Amino acid sequence: MNRTAPQPIQQNPDIRFLGKMLGDVIRAYGGEKLFRQTEYIRAASVDRHRGVEGAVDTGLEALSLDDTIAFVRGFMLFSLLANLAEDRQSNLQEGGATLAEAVERLQGEGISPTQVGELLGQSLIVPVLTAHPTEVRRKSMIDHKNRIAALMRLRDAGHDVTESGDRIENAIYRQIALLWQTRPLRREKLVVADEIENARAYMEDVFLVALPKLYARWERDLGMRPPSFLRLGSWIGGDRDGNPFVNAQTLDTALSRGAATVLGHYLECVHHLGAEISISSELAHVPQAVIDLAEISGDLASSRADEPYRRALSGVYARLAATYTQIVGEAPPRPSRLEGEPYSSPDSFRRDLVAIASALASEGKGALSSGGALGRLIRSIETFGFHLATLDLRQNSDVHERVVAELLREAGVEPAYLELDEAARIALLTKELAHNRPLCGAATALGAEANSELAILHAAAHAHETFGRGAITTYIISKTTSLSDLLEVYVLLKEAGLYRIDPDGKAEAPIMVVPLFETIGDLEAAPAIMTAFFELPAMKSLAKARGHQEVMIGYSDSNKDGGYLTSTWGLNQASLALAPVFAAAGVTMQLFHGRGGAVGRGGGSAFGAIQAQPRGTVNGRIRITEQGEVIAAKYGTVDNAVANLETIASATLLASLEPDPVANADAARFSAAMDQLSVSAFAAYRGLVYETDGFTTFFRQMTPISEIATLKIGSRPSSRTKSDRIEDLRAIPWVFSWAQARVMLPGWYGAGQALADFEDKGLLKAMAQCWPFFQTILANMEMVLAKSDMEIASHYATLVQDKALSERLFGDIRAGWNTAHDSLLDATAQSALLEASPSLNNSIRLRMPYIEPLNHLQIELMKRHRAGEDDPRIAEGIQLTINAVATALRNSG
Ligand code: PGA
Repeated sequence: MNRTAPQPIQQNPDIRFLGKMLGDVIRAYGGEKLFRQTEYIRAASVDRHRGVEGAVDTGLEALSLDDTIAFVRGFMLFSLLANLAEDRQSNLQEGGATLAEAVERLQGEGISPTQVGELLGQSLIVPVLTAHPTEVRRKSMIDHKNRIAALMRLRDAGHDVTESGDRIENAIYRQIALLWQTRPLRREKLVVADEIENARAYMEDVFLVALPKLYARWERDLGMRPPSFLRLGSWIGGDRDGNPFVNAQTLDTALSRGAATVLGHYLECVHHLGAEISISSELAHVPQAVIDLAEISGDLASSRADEPYRRALSGVYARLAATYTQIVGEAPPRPSRLEGEPYSSPDSFRRDLVAIASALASEGKGALSSGGALGRLIRSIETFGFHLATLDLRQNSDVHERVVAELLREAGVEPAYLELDEAARIALLTKELAHNRPLCGAATALGAEANSELAILHAAAHAHETFGRGAITTYIISKTTSLSDLLEVYVLLKEAGLYRIDPDGKAEAPIMVVPLFETIGDLEAAPAIMTAFFELPAMKSLAKARGHQEVMIGYSDSNKDGGYLTSTWGLNQASLALAPVFAAAGVTMQLFHGRGGAVGRGGGSAFGAIQAQPRGTVNGRIRITEQGEVIAAKYGTVDNAVANLETIASATLLASLEPDPVANADAARFSAAMDQLSVSAFAAYRGLVYETDGFTTFFRQMTPISEIATLKIGSRPSSRTKSDRIEDLRAIPWVFSWAQARVMLPGWYGAGQALADFEDKGLLKAMAQCWPFFQTILANMEMVLAKSDMEIASHYATLVQDKALSERLFGDIRAGWNTAHDSLLDATAQSALLEASPSLNNSIRLRMPYIEPLNHLQIELMKRHRAGEDDPRIAEGIQLTINAVATALRNSG
């Protein structure tokens, strides 16, 4: 680990303040002995990390099992509070630029505001929330943390007491005391309905407020009304890849809860507008459009006879309440006094509000024109429609293949689909897609899998009728390896009436089928698959009618398959090679980036990552997954959400319009260098992970992979199959377990060797100096190296039963780490990791002494657990240490 050149660590005063309070709480609630033990271990660990001579006694041996559990909770809470203190230091969580700054930067490059406006007019930027199981903290813990953050803000503003008159310091102490007494581990496994509810709470409390607020700011900053290009997406309740608990019912629950939330919000807004816009026709001229709305509202109350705006809004409220009842299936919380026709679409609701807004703007000097609550409501309708978030469907291509084979068999099609080669499959599926006759009728008897798959498609068709077509627009196919994978899904959609040939012979499909390419080989094959896709007239005409086609690229699985550097380059090269395929077809490409929080799963700064996208591949359109612990970090509060959404928007704008910072001559040299680096990184990574005898056993014994599977952090099972092979393991536990063992192999292994073997070191330095793409690779890798620790990892290696195997493989890893460390320093011209990023360095070094004791306790507990000790406190202790290490590392890998 990076213990070279210890520099003094800058203490953050908030961490000291909160840490001291936590100490007081531990003393008051856990007792003097626990407090002293904790303090002793903390001080000893800090000394060791500072290189103090003779600091060897860790104090850990003296802990009983109960003490261990209490101690781990203490360190976990310290990390939670330290995260909070750090987040307060930067509002723009990931650095980056505001939209106004991005526009200014572009102007400096000769790009006019008109060009920016045109791009925004065709842009679509969508964060997509998913339920990937990487958030280890319970919502109650996060809520307490947010309350403390709010109290700290009051304290910053110079207040001594809260609004309700409590002393702020007492209130913070109380929250920490509650945190201390809150169980950090879940008792019950999460179910899909919990995940839906969790995300819904973020959407209601944060996104519904943050998005209109962000637009209001942009209107002020840019002096124009930008189009509504941000949307919200979700996978929760619709992503059934490897999750048998996601079905037609969860799809319906997710959509109805979303609709109830957003329509309930609109009703409240309209209610408040009615209270606010009290203009009397005796005192002001009221345009005819509002009089007309008032006339048809049915509001005949004499007290409001001279208040046409209020009457108009009563009518709007009545229609919206009827819409709520129609869509949600029950009366709204505050029913309307009047009868009204349900709105047929969000647009018809919006038209009424725009009429009111225009009327207000046309009078006086337009003082009541822009913004305000009405402006925010119009913006919300454009953004959230009647469904709040668009829900994607996702399933694995293997499942589609089996279901299509079953349907064809039942329809009497010979020979068996599974026996056909790719060309024959394409021919057969194309034929099926040329007519409207479904493969199965009501009487067809199908197996459980096919029934459940068709049920979800019928539920999707029904959802279109109830919630509108905007509610489900996309169907993602995991593990897409061929063109037939795409066609199979259209054949399945046809069964539910979601694909049809219109009377003119043209294909129509309200749901777009989207391939997810997620291994190195599949990324390489992507351009050929999409070329063949567009060669099919029906597919091309579908895409052309939509104007765009999405392709999803998977960061985690490509990393697990080929290692960090090869995956990153493979994703970049696939995007670049896809762009001309789309241009030739005359269809706009929309990339969907499937990335998690950890570097091994595509994590790191979103701003840097988007900005480093190859030129010509963004064009204002991007969707990005937001998952696990990232959701609370980026969207935990309205301010954070505003800052992070702005970061994504400005990075997208820059990536779309800013000229390539690398000159053409350099681009060719750099690209050739990356090809070479990628090949050698791939060989080094695959050599270890897939071609070394005993690696799987080594990995399974060295890391807490099997213990992670017992965490109750998500509804889906931790693996798709019972197989032990790394290929079959999901990427999340793979990355998660390496992080716990402090190896973080997916963030660097292979890359270091490639850098070391590359002969032209001057070229590497040049790339590190002026190529944002390469800089991002190195910056992420450097952060991971700084968080990893080969000393601690060597203790995990003792968990491997076969000592020779352990020494051999851990020896390789340690040597690889040293190579990565040295070659990274060389390329970036530094003498120590993070020398050029002092605040990140400080933050990581401040944490390290708090993580090390947790790792040692985890190892001890794992030894006892694996030796067969069945005291439930041991299993609980392991889970707590996993939780605490993940909290302290700030992501699950
Ligand atoms: P998936 O996600 O296994 O659901 O495809 C991979 C990841 O995000 O790590």
